[in-house]
Amino acid sequence: MVTTQPKAKVKAKPAAKKTMKQKTSAKAKPTTPKSIHYAELVGQLQGLLKGEFDFIANAANFAALLKTSLPDVNWAGFYFLKGNELVLGPFQGRPACVRIPLGSGVCGVAARQCETIIVPNVHEFVGHIACDPASNAEIVVPLFDGERMLGVLDLDSPVMGRFDDQDAEGLNELLTVFVAHEEGLGE
Ligand code: SME
Repeated sequence: MVTTQPKAKVKAKPAAKKTMKQKTSAKAKPTTPKSIHYAELVGQLQGLLKGEFDFIANAANFAALLKTSLPDVNWAGFYFLKGNELVLGPFQGRPACVRIPLGSGVCGVAARQCETIIVPNVHEFVGHIACDPASNAEIVVPLFDGERMLGVLDLDSPVMGRFDDQDAEGLNELLTVFVAHEEGLGE
């Protein structure tokens, strides 16, 4: 049984040009660094998974944890690989398209290339599939059981440039914990 995610390969498009001047007068609110927030989420995910081995239930709670804990996220959930397409799994957010062919949209490209894709501005991603008109940025992280790609984790945000390499690392770490917990996943 192999239960770790391969190290994420991350492909990011350059961030969209800023069109508005940043405000500099207001005092910046102290924010928790992303790495600390993701470390806390690992502990919370382990707590949610403890003693429960129903894959769908665990994936649903995982998606809910992400949607309710991460700032500026309007959609969080899974697509699972079935044949040559991705099929919608547990998620939180607005209803989404159910089937995505491999190579289509951000999810289909991430799945076909087996790599994480960070999209600062979805309107500049050719072939992006819009499920929620509020979404402006997206990150898609493939989910592996050893070498086998099971599907993808997809997060959307209304904030341009919301996701970066720290999100990719943090989400990959969470997926590693998730997969390690599920014995005989997908069999
Ligand atoms: N935007 C995705 C489709 C899924 S929704 O964002 C939930 C894509 O382009 O593959």
